[in-house]
Formats: sequence, structure tokens, C-alpha cells
Amino acid sequence: MPQTYHQLRLDLATALAQFLEPREANAEAIRWFEEGLGRSRTWMAGHGDEGVPDEVRGQISHWLRRRKTGEPWAYLLGWTKWRGRRFAVNASTLIPRPETEMVLEAALELGQRLKVSRAVDVGTGSGILGISMALETDWEISATDISEGALAVAQQNAQALNANLDFKLGHLLDPVLGPLGLVVSNPPYVDPDDRPSLQPELAWEPDSALFADDHGLALNIELLMESRRRAAMACVLEIGTGQGAVLKEKGLAFGWNRIQVHQDLAGHDRVLMAL
Ligand SMILES: C[S@@+](CC[C@H](N)C(=O)[O-])C[C@H]1O[C@@H](n2cnc3c(N)ncnc32)[C@H](O)[C@@H]1O
Repeated sequence: MPQTYHQLRLDLATALAQFLEPREANAEAIRWFEEGLGRSRTWMAGHGDEGVPDEVRGQISHWLRRRKTGEPWAYLLGWTKWRGRRFAVNASTLIPRPETEMVLEAALELGQRLKVSRAVDVGTGSGILGISMALETDWEISATDISEGALAVAQQNAQALNANLDFKLGHLLDPVLGPLGLVVSNPPYVDPDDRPSLQPELAWEPDSALFADDHGLALNIELLMESRRRAAMACVLEIGTGQGAVLKEKGLAFGWNRIQVHQDLAGHDRVLMAL
């Protein structure tokens, strides 16, 4: 008797549980079915007892072989969903994280309150922040990145999502001429000394998207300084656990009037706003 879709999903969850927590393995098996095979839960409810064609089984085996080496699912698939939109990703880009939505929410709220007309997304990666701002506001958006590979993916995403923004290659704010408006960024902020204790999957993401000198603080410090020097209206930055106090001190020393640090759901410093 041919293997059914239900059976295949159970077998997949068991195979994934050899290197993932059982709950994670189950959730990921559902994602593979939904995102990879286009077999939603609703589809499974009606067709789960049907036999699986050989090519579908072959596809799952191929993904499983790669996934066992630690390669993240989003890279296998070539895209991930963020804020309900589909963003292409590859080995040149960070895989967007759910917590970065806090940065976007803070930027949208602050930008509206300050009536900004321009914003810059620094270190755009796959483009999530810049593209979302372009689609959800009428601000003029620029996005920068030091990685040509990441910028190519961000441009592809902007085109696919019909977002209008300007992409520039270079260091932090250097490629953006003229007034900055609101500076928004999720720059690399991981301390290179923490590398040995990081999840193995992070090894698949570009070092240049993760690590920054000075215990992970270097780029956020430079952004606070440069944005202030160039009279940006405000900054909204993603920051690392335990980095809030020192960045607040630096920001005030650079002349910002008010610095707020917000924690994520796990209670860790995650977003810094400088005004
Ligand atoms: C943590 S990733 C964030 C990507 C994306 N904004 C997101 O939230 O998913 C940081 C990004 O900053 C870029 N980057 C690193 N150093 C940079 C620099 N000096 N200037 C501009 N971009 C830089 C990396 O290439 C990477 O795309």
C-alpha cells in the first residue's frame, strides 16, 4: 500500500526529531508541508489519506538530506514569510526574525508621531524593514547594505512586492546623501566572543550579518553617532540582550535628548529609540 500524506508527515516529524526538539520537529514538518509542498492543514484534512507520488517523496528526502547538515529550512525553501509577506532569502542574507517586527512597529509609530517624510533602513539584508516601510507609509525610503549579494535579494523582493525604494551599496549611512529623516536598522550586534555558544544553524548565515566588533556594539554606536551628527530626526535600532544601558549612555553622550530601551517578550533588551 502506498504511503499516505498523513503517514509521510508523521515520518518526517520523526526524522526531524533526530536533531530538533520534538515540538519544533512537529511544527517544522507542518511548515514543510504548507510552504514546501503547498499542502495546507485544510488540504490535509481532505486529502491526507491519499497516496504520495514518488516525486513528492523524493523532494522530501532531498530536503531532509540537506536539513540534516544543519541548513535552515528558509534557505532550503528560498524564502520566508515576514509580517505576512513572502521575502526571498539566500546565503547572502540573514533569515528575518519575528522579533524584528518590534523595530518596524516602533519605527512606524515614531515616524508618524514625528511626521517624518523620509527614512533609511541601514543593513537592509532581504529588505524587510525598508520594503515594509515603503509599502505601509508614504515616506521616501532608502536602504543600504555593505553586501552586494544581500542588496540583489532586497531589490528582487522590492520588485516582487511592488515596493518603491532606493537601494544603495556601502557602509551604514555613507551612501545616503542629504537629510536622513528617521534612521531604522537591525545591524549586526552579536559579540564574536559568543560564537562558540551560538545555535549551530547561525553558522549558515553570513558572519557580516551577525557579528560586530566591540562586543557586538560597534555598528550601533556608530549609527547613534552618525545619525546625530547628520541631524537625523530619530533612530530606531534593534539591539542585543544586555546592550541597552551602554548604548543609552553612548547615545546621550552623542547629544540625543531621550533614549528609550524596550524589551522583547522574553524580557531582553531589543529595541532602542533615540530622539
Ligand atoms: C542583522 S542583518 C539584518 C538584515 C535585515 N535588516 C533583517 O532585519 O532581517 C544585518 C545586515 O547589515 C549588513 N551590514 C553589515 N555591516 C554593514 C555596514 N557596515 N554597512 C551597511 N550594512 C552592513 C549585513 O550585510 C546584513 O545584511
